[in-house]
Amino acid sequence: MTATLINGKQIATQLRSELAEQVTELVSKGVQPSLAVILVGDDPASHSYVRGKEKACEKAGILSIVKRHPSSLKEDELLAEIDTLNEDSSVHGILVQMPLPDHISENAVLERIAVDKDVDGFHPVNAGRLITGKDSFKPCTPLGIMKMLEFSGVEPKGKHAVVVGRSHLVGKPVGQLLLNQDATVTYCHSKTNDLASITRQADILIAAVGRVNMIGVEHVKPGAAVIDVGINRLDNGKLSGDVQFDEVQERAGWITPVPGGVGPMTITMLLYNTVAAARGKMS
Ligand code: GUN
Repeated sequence: MTATLINGKQIATQLRSELAEQVTELVSKGVQPSLAVILVGDDPASHSYVRGKEKACEKAGILSIVKRHPSSLKEDELLAEIDTLNEDSSVHGILVQMPLPDHISENAVLERIAVDKDVDGFHPVNAGRLITGKDSFKPCTPLGIMKMLEFSGVEPKGKHAVVVGRSHLVGKPVGQLLLNQDATVTYCHSKTNDLASITRQADILIAAVGRVNMIGVEHVKPGAAVIDVGINRLDNGKLSGDVQFDEVQERAGWITPVPGGVGPMTITMLLYNTVAAARGKMS
């Protein structure tokens, strides 16, 4: 068997053009969707991610306002800037790029963002609403994974979904989204005994650990949908996922590549959340 490729780049392109149409419609009604991004410090990866977000916004017709600050910025100053953006009705989404310098509390910052502008879906109220099945902003990578499954016709209902990785930003919320769609969900992590015996039961396998080649063919049930969230930079500069792609694609039913899989979906879902925020409605 050779797996069907889930082409995140192609799905992202289609969704972004649909979003651009929705933005045009909002603008014609006098609403210019806008996203404020706050970046503190000089981490090159963060600067590159933020440039990617800026470009994607621009292409979709979303106004992006980027506030760049030196790493000496004080926590109080950052919180005051968030307060100003919270009160500005022309700003629909607010994102503070992580990580932050050590002297700034990430929790304090995330909790300060207005719940209805929290397009990252990281605010504890949005996390709680996700668990209780209420409308909320969903974190972008997990939401992107759900869209990829939907586009591929992989229906979670009744399936056994195994999530490897339990981060707050990806593993935990994607398991919750799968549960909300009636999958039976198992979480695995670094302390799990006999990982392969559990992952081999998965109809949907989500690899979200951040370790190159950690999921091999021995971890995969024939015909499973394998979603690779890992974006690992190799010594040769290339990107690699958590899954041994060449071997696993021979056994899986569906598989996402790296690059070109989950990655392009994350920014797309940020645009999606921003448009939803501009409409005053959470997905
Ligand atoms: N740093 C790396 N990824 C993300 C993200 O999705 N959102 C924010 N705010 N910071 C990040």
